[in-house]
Amino acid sequence: MKKPNNISFQFACFLLCAILWAASADPQYQNFINCFVNNSSNSAVISTPDTSSYSSILNVSIQNLRFTLPNTPKPQLILTPQNEAHIQTALYCSQKHKLQVRILSGGHDFEGSSYVSNVSFFVLNMYNFRSISVDSINKTAWVGAGATLGETYYNIVQANSSLAFPAGYYPQVGIGGHISGGGYGCLVRKFGLAADNVLDARVIDAEGRILNRASMGEDLFWAIRGGTGASFAVILEYKVKLVEIPKEQLTAFSLKRTLEQNATDLVHKWQTVGPNLPPELLLELQLTVVPSNQTADGKTIQATFVSLFLGGADDLVSIMNQNFPELGLVRDDCITLSRWVDFITYFYQRPLNLTDTILTSRVSLNPKSYFKSTSEFVQNPIPKQGLEQLWDVMRNISSPPVLMNWTPFGARMAEIPESEIPFPHRAGNIYMVFKKIQWQGTDPDLIQERFASARRLTSFFGSM
Ligand SMILES: Cc1cc2nc3c(=O)[nH]c(=O)nc-3n(C[C@H](O)[C@H](O)[C@H](O)COP(=O)(O)OP(=O)(O)OC[C@H]3O[C@@H](n4cnc5c(N)ncnc54)[C@H](O)[C@@H]3O)c2cc1C
Ligand SMILES: *[C@@H]1O[C@H](CO)[C@@H](O)[C@H](O)[C@H]1NC(C)=O
Ligand SMILES: *[C@@H]1O[C@H](CO)[C@@H](O)[C@H](O)[C@H]1NC(C)=O
Ligand SMILES: *[C@@H]1O[C@H](CO)[C@@H](O)[C@H](O)[C@H]1NC(C)=O
Ligand SMILES: *[C@@H]1O[C@H](CO)[C@@H](O)[C@H](O)[C@H]1NC(C)=O
Ligand SMILES: *[C@@H]1O[C@H](CO)[C@@H](O)[C@H](O)[C@H]1NC(C)=O
Ligand SMILES: *[C@@H]1O[C@H](CO)[C@@H](O)[C@H](O)[C@H]1NC(C)=O
Ligand SMILES: *[C@@H]1O[C@H](CO)[C@@H](O)[C@H](O)[C@H]1NC(C)=O
Ligand SMILES: *[C@@H]1O[C@H](CO)[C@@H](O)[C@H](O)[C@H]1NC(C)=O
Ligand SMILES: *[C@@H]1O[C@H](CO)[C@@H](O)[C@H](O)[C@H]1NC(C)=O
Ligand SMILES: *[C@@H]1O[C@H](CO)[C@@H](O)[C@H](O)[C@H]1NC(C)=O
Repeated sequence: MKKPNNISFQFACFLLCAILWAASADPQYQNFINCFVNNSSNSAVISTPDTSSYSSILNVSIQNLRFTLPNTPKPQLILTPQNEAHIQTALYCSQKHKLQVRILSGGHDFEGSSYVSNVSFFVLNMYNFRSISVDSINKTAWVGAGATLGETYYNIVQANSSLAFPAGYYPQVGIGGHISGGGYGCLVRKFGLAADNVLDARVIDAEGRILNRASMGEDLFWAIRGGTGASFAVILEYKVKLVEIPKEQLTAFSLKRTLEQNATDLVHKWQTVGPNLPPELLLELQLTVVPSNQTADGKTIQATFVSLFLGGADDLVSIMNQNFPELGLVRDDCITLSRWVDFITYFYQRPLNLTDTILTSRVSLNPKSYFKSTSEFVQNPIPKQGLEQLWDVMRNISSPPVLMNWTPFGARMAEIPESEIPFPHRAGNIYMVFKKIQWQGTDPDLIQERFASARRLTSFFGSM
């Protein structure tokens, strides 16, 4: 018999440890591990609360610190498959031993659904399925579910900096959850959602079959472009269509206006201007509460108008002055970007020479926090009195203040039929609102107060 090399010896020991641990744990997990180990010819990493890799894998995966609290059920087992057979075996064993599977790609689900469950479950961590292959001639790419948006953008731009994939802003969001849920970002008005630009996919279904678009059929292919993947299959990878960024210059600006600088009028007007600008022009709106020395409560609302224009500064200033003169954009407010990906860096207010580092890092760009986030889709402009009410709700929320991003739709979003993919927020919606209430710490009173604030904000939009 061949002497085992050091790595497989360590691995055997590692598995043995896992099995020994399982012997003293819930028999369901023990049976699952036995089944998995007995049926796997190769080594997948099994992490349990007793193994050294467990806390670091969990720590990297949990993006919302709310779900680190003791009252959140933690996975008793994290499986990081290295090949497709591991996933097939894991699905087989999970059914045999009645363990629910939670599929985790980037871990950015707002409600932690990729790593939280109230029934016995294990996490299927797609980290190793992150290969990206860009075909810059045919303008397509195969992207693994475990890749991040940033890694995807980086690889595309390395191949050809005028090619792009229209998906979300935040670089560490995972492809698996993002594309299967829709995915919007700075190119949404010109090219639609990430899920609108999917050409093919490879998945493993509950019976362990590896399917592509042709073999899964159009119904399943429809579902995994917006209807979230986990309800239907394990997404291995998506084939996406790359889009061409016009060769002219790219221009960006960011202008801040407080209530004392007519923010109410500007936001009111933005609601009709933003969705009707040319598709090449994104005018995103960010709203928050900032300190002020001009108001009785020492606070004011700040509206930041952040824009990416697929064109030059002169054209941008002229379009803005025609459509939105009240904002008062001048040439000096504009900066020229050399690549579209630099807008991600600009959007998150980092130095532009850090783009490649930011895109390729697996470490969350912003510090993680405890948060509650939900989205709204708005059909009719909120009247000025409504905005005044919203300001009251916002300034009544204690620090740290609420953060909102309002993303205008229209343009390409209004052209794609509502039934094209399971993203039922197109027809009639003029913009979407992303809202985030964050906190640090675990004080139950604080958490209750933050949730109450989140609910008041949500009911405001419900009442409009
Ligand atoms: C800080 C932050 C910024 C964000 N920015 C944006 C943005 O700019 N634009 C935008 O559209 N959204 C944004 N989102 C939302 C994000 O796109 C979604 O939460 C998305 O589902 C996250 O995907 P993930 O793979 O990172 O998350 P995960 O938590 O791993 O997965 C999310 C869901 O998809 C399922 N899933 C994951 N991988 C697979 C797979 N391989 N097969 C089947 N099912 C799978 C999971 O089980 C879970 O239900 C942001 C979220 C956060 C926390
Ligand atoms: C998997 O292993 C179990 C024993 O743990 C065995 O009963 C079962 O038949 C195996 N299944 C497959 C598909 O190999
Ligand atoms: C699984 O394999 C282990 C070791 O190879 C063995 O001891 C055990 O009996 C097997 N389990 C089943 C159910 O076959
Ligand atoms: C998670 O990782 C971060 C940074 O890597 C570290 O500061 C933190 O203490 C870790 N948390 C846990 C619970 O291990
Ligand atoms: C899980 O259980 C907790 C505590 O019992 C409860 O608050 C939560 O709503 C449950 N979640 C689901 C999805 O059932
Ligand atoms: C592009 O597509 C064609 C036709 O589908 C294919 O033959 C070719 O291999 C693809 N890739 C490249 C780099 O041309
Ligand atoms: C990059 O892509 C653009 C748009 O498709 C194309 O015009 C250009 O020739 C490509 N550049 C290279 C170096 O391939
Ligand atoms: C606010 O609007 C008024 C009239 O609508 C205008 O006179 C004033 O200059 C504006 N203030 C700022 C700071 O733009
Ligand atoms: C208010 O703050 C601004 C800077 O934010 C400062 O320029 C201004 O002088 C202050 N006004 C008063 C009355 O303190
Ligand atoms: C990036 O630019 C800043 C100035 O904006 C400079 O201080 C820094 O050294 C640069 N970093 C790199 C890695 O080039
Ligand atoms: C302000 O906050 C309190 C609780 O802190 C709440 O009872 C009240 O309804 C809030 N008012 C508004 C306008 O949101």
